[in-house]
Amino acid sequence: MKINMSVTNVEYSLKESDSIVSKTDLKGMITYINEDFLRVSGFTREELIGASHNIVRHPDMPPEAFADMWKTLKENRPWTGMVKNRCKNGDFYWVLANVTPYYENAQLAGYMSMRSKPSREQINAADAAYRLFQKDNPGNLKIQDGKIVKSIFLAKFNPSKRLTIKSRLINVIGLLSVLMMIIGGLGLQGMSKAQ
Ligand SMILES: Cc1cc2nc3c(=O)[nH]c(=O)nc-3n(C[C@H](O)[C@H](O)[C@H](O)COP(=O)(O)O)c2cc1C
Repeated sequence: MKINMSVTNVEYSLKESDSIVSKTDLKGMITYINEDFLRVSGFTREELIGASHNIVRHPDMPPEAFADMWKTLKENRPWTGMVKNRCKNGDFYWVLANVTPYYENAQLAGYMSMRSKPSREQINAADAAYRLFQKDNPGNLKIQDGKIVKSIFLAKFNPSKRLTIKSRLINVIGLLSVLMMIIGGLGLQGMSKAQ
């Protein structure tokens, strides 16, 4: 995990019209940034192109958020979540990021992020929740597809949860075995009663 030290408490507030865009290769190395990215982050194009995207990582961001981001992207799904980024001078800015895989000639070519200005409520909620993760005390909170959600015990047994084909087969075979044992038991009981 990269820790970019020397941060300030100064927030750079985005403009409503800001749209901060970057593209990376499959390993998260920056291949493209737009003008808004340059202006807000304070880095130069030369510093950013070819660098790992963690160049703008803020130390307040919990590793769980990025683990969830990469897990979601590797499952070929888009990730929408709150990110606190660090400017080159140590200031910070909050974004609502939409990160998605992108394709060229039907081949997965990399990932793309488009960021916009979040509301103050979104910033406060993410800030409070991320602090709990940073303190290793998230309680029943977890980050799923970028959203901060409450994980309830019953969710573990939620049948709508995505299962692999293997686990589904194991479940079906297990259920069928139990059913066959019950039917067999009832059959034996019936036979012994008839005798
Ligand atoms: C398209 C794309 C955009 C990303 N944008 C950011 C970003 O704005 N800020 C950030 O800290 N990490 C971003 N990341 C995640 C980084 O690649 C990295 O996982 C994260 O900074 C944590 O780095 P570390 O685990 O090396 O400390 C992005 C990744 C991708 C694929």
